Amino acid sequence: MSTDITFDITKVAQSRIDQVDLDDPGFGRLFSDHMLEVSYNEGEWQQPKIKPYGTIEVVPALNVFHYAQSVFEGTKAYYVDDETVNLFRIGQNYERFVQSCKRMCIPPVDREVFLGGIEKLIEIDHRWVPRKEGNVLYIRPFACAFDPVISANPAEEYRFFVITSPVGSYYNKSVKLTTSKRYVRAVKGGVGAAKAAGNYAASFYPARKAQEMGYDQVLWLDAHEHTYIEEVGTMNIFFIIDGVLVTPKLQGTILPGITRDSVLRLANHWEIPVEERRINIEEVIEAGQSGKLEEVFGTGTAAVIAPVEEIHHDGISVIPKEKDRGPVGQKLYDTIYDIQRSRIEDPFNWVRS
Ligand code: COI
Repeated sequence: MSTDITFDITKVAQSRIDQVDLDDPGFGRLFSDHMLEVSYNEGEWQQPKIKPYGTIEVVPALNVFHYAQSVFEGTKAYYVDDETVNLFRIGQNYERFVQSCKRMCIPPVDREVFLGGIEKLIEIDHRWVPRKEGNVLYIRPFACAFDPVISANPAEEYRFFVITSPVGSYYNKSVKLTTSKRYVRAVKGGVGAAKAAGNYAASFYPARKAQEMGYDQVLWLDAHEHTYIEEVGTMNIFFIIDGVLVTPKLQGTILPGITRDSVLRLANHWEIPVEERRINIEEVIEAGQSGKLEEVFGTGTAAVIAPVEEIHHDGISVIPKEKDRGPVGQKLYDTIYDIQRSRIEDPFNWVRS
């Protein structure tokens, strides 16, 4: 992109790249040499800085620790060849970031800082984009309150950071899900559609309970009737029931996933029947029992397309016909994977390098 923004850049004296194994990075544990940091004070965002990745000094009263006024995004950089690294639908991440900021009373940084900062960071740390098939550089932009004050109000100072992390796959097996009657992820009028840090913290306890019962993730139901399916773990959810690709309609409680949207657009392009609507858990159980539940998968930036091998609800378990990625899930995965790496045509202009 063309940008008039300048970045104050301080580079590391010595890169850490020779000390890490980009072929086996795990998820979110290694960080590249540099990060972007921008401060907000006196009512405006200040000069963006790119500097060595490292610790930041803060006081214990920092209000984000107390009230979680914080939002984040997730996107990835893909190795194409020695000259080219691709980003995927990054403008969508910015749009969602702005919506999340609005909901959490955080002033968003400008589009040029968000997009230009990520591009500059990737240019400087391009050697951190893994080349191994399947591995990528995960990009984590986030903005948080930064007042050293514990009164429960929107802060007056904020920080925006972008850190990047070479990663392998998020899940390496199909996942088993259980619903919960006791816990919900989001309520109407709440913050479910925002990528707010606290949403994730609040999901950890129910997820732990599910794991104690032998499942991997919670299949979240609506907070009102405990009947309609919303999301799974930290992902959106898709079902193929009798040849139709079905996903819950976005109604303010569901995160508008960028992979979710990519799946819907590809399915429409391929003329697969698609329904975005309310889905009753009983309908899924019945489809499982009558053999009409063909495929189930979660979608997200980190996981891409994660197959579901079992759904448990109210004492009954059903197993989709395809326990691993089925033909539709696999075609979606392969197509998104290949578009992201410029190996096939990009019919929607999703990639920028
Ligand atoms: C993502 O898919 O990027 C997410 O935000 C999930 C995250 C919890 C790793």
